[in-house]
Amino acid sequence: MKPLEKLPTHVSIIMDGNGRWAKERGKERIYGHFEGVESVRAVTEACVEWGIPYLSLFAFSEENWARPTAEVEGLMALMLKSMHNEYPTFKKNGVRFVVLGNRGRLSDELNSEIDYLMDATAGGDKLTMILFMSYSGKWDIQQAAKRMAEAGSEDLEPFLVTAGIPNPDLIIRTSGEKRISNFLLWQAAYSEFVFTDTLWPDFRKDSFRAALEEFASRDRRYGKVTK
Ligand code: IPE
Ligand code: IPE
Ligand code: MG
Repeated sequence: MKPLEKLPTHVSIIMDGNGRWAKERGKERIYGHFEGVESVRAVTEACVEWGIPYLSLFAFSEENWARPTAEVEGLMALMLKSMHNEYPTFKKNGVRFVVLGNRGRLSDELNSEIDYLMDATAGGDKLTMILFMSYSGKWDIQQAAKRMAEAGSEDLEPFLVTAGIPNPDLIIRTSGEKRISNFLLWQAAYSEFVFTDTLWPDFRKDSFRAALEEFASRDRRYGKVTK
């Protein structure tokens, strides 16, 4: 296999298509979410193996709260369980786990698990894995603008929830949808986008590698001119 070149520092993924994956199999949507956790595990391992230092995953948007209660509750229970289960793997692989988003909307139980994990993995030096939960790009800009004004500053970036994290070099969206769905609006200013038809539960190491190869072939100009 060809060695990977020009790796991104920060890869971000809009994990989409779990519901359709389940429907194709005549199952409830939640089964797609269960299987999606396996894909999260696969891409996390790949980042550690390939030396990508930042991986962020859009797990639940502010808009997703409007889904049926049973699905929202199922997803929250799944996240709680998965986080709990992943702890030994995070420790073993040197993963620093971070959750970003409107955490005030998450349950106390989930928030205490998140606090525990973030604290316990703070020393992870191989990979920073960021889970965006109850996140939206517009919400982030609004909360940052408010705090910036309170601080009497004119520089927005330090007030975004992503402060201190490099902007994503590459944003992958699965399932054939070609939109940003209120994800990282400010931070995506110069991100490269890769859209794939693969549904998230089917997105494993080989699909990830293909997206990284596509990224490596791009010419990032940042408004300038290259020969
Ligand atoms: C992505 O899969 C997971 C979340 C948004 C939480 P979906 O649940 O959106 O799956 P589709 O798009 O309906 O297939
Ligand atoms: C985007 O997927 C949000 C996440 C992946 C968490 P959605 O399935 O919610 O997006 P839309 O509704 O198709 O735009
Ligand atoms: Mg979707």
